[in-house]
Amino acid sequence: MEIKNKRVVLTGAAGGMGRILAAELVKRGANLAMVDANADALATLATKLSGTHPVQGNLSTAKGCNAVADQCLEKLGGIDLLINLAGINSFAAYEDENPDKIELMLHVNLLAPMWLARAFLPLMQENNSGRIVNVGSVFGSIGFAYFSVYSASKFGLRGFSEALRREVADTNIKITYIAPRAVKTPMNSDALMRMGEATKMNMDAPEDVVQKIIAAIDNDRKDIYFGFPESLFVRINVLFPRLVDKALAAQNRIARAFAKGEQ
Ligand SMILES: NC(=O)c1ccc[n+]([C@@H]2O[C@H](COP(=O)([O-])OP(=O)(O)OC[C@H]3O[C@@H](n4cnc5c(N)ncnc54)[C@H](OP(=O)(O)O)[C@@H]3O)[C@@H](O)[C@H]2O)c1
Repeated sequence: MEIKNKRVVLTGAAGGMGRILAAELVKRGANLAMVDANADALATLATKLSGTHPVQGNLSTAKGCNAVADQCLEKLGGIDLLINLAGINSFAAYEDENPDKIELMLHVNLLAPMWLARAFLPLMQENNSGRIVNVGSVFGSIGFAYFSVYSASKFGLRGFSEALRREVADTNIKITYIAPRAVKTPMNSDALMRMGEATKMNMDAPEDVVQKIIAAIDNDRKDIYFGFPESLFVRINVLFPRLVDKALAAQNRIARAFAKGEQ
């Protein structure tokens, strides 16, 4: 899809990856609605990116998503591209997860992309064109210890993307699923960053990930999995999950100490 002159809705626009992706979309001539919960960060970004439309909203409820969708449509007059980037994570032992945080994570990471897709899909169907980009994670294909809720939300998002892609296969509407490995952004807590160092976890720069997201849109990619060996592990996990159990066992033991706050 050519981005120039397209009406684009980007969620999580004021976040670590979002603000870089927003700038890149503007550079490429998109008419951009930038959605985020963080009003101050959004206002600062909108000042930098003239001509964009900031939409402050909370994606953790269906009502909030519908309100955001209405505002975006009012500002853009339609939609060609929805990028579901907003997300939250948690690095913790499952027994320590707070029930409210579990619910919030499933709402923001899984239900919000589904609610927004539902709000915009009829318009795309009317025009018989459009693209929905769902940003998942490698953890949506490999269940990672101490990221059980996050993994569950991203597994769900991958399943939704695959099913919806098959559902619209006979139309000109396209669904792209993006699965980055770890990225250096404020999403990751200090404990997670220290665990990443201790386990030699690969971490990409947000600028590089953004370029790959743009390339996936340019090249009409169905899905992309980032980095080696992570993308290979994704395939091995499908065919030989016990091998991945073994490969991750030592890392899981190190991660536990960080997740429990003992390191
Ligand atoms: N960073 C990584 O290691 C990594 C790896 C793989 C995949 N990903 C995925 O990439 C995406 C972007 O991540 P990132 O690293 O850029 O995260 P980030 O820096 O934390 O940015 C996320 C943005 O989403 C916003 N947001 C959170 N909850 C919201 C809600 N209820 N309503 C509206 N906006 C909300 C946040 O606002 P607040 O600041 O107000 O919370 C923040 O501006 C996420 O889907 C994430 O799962 C990230």
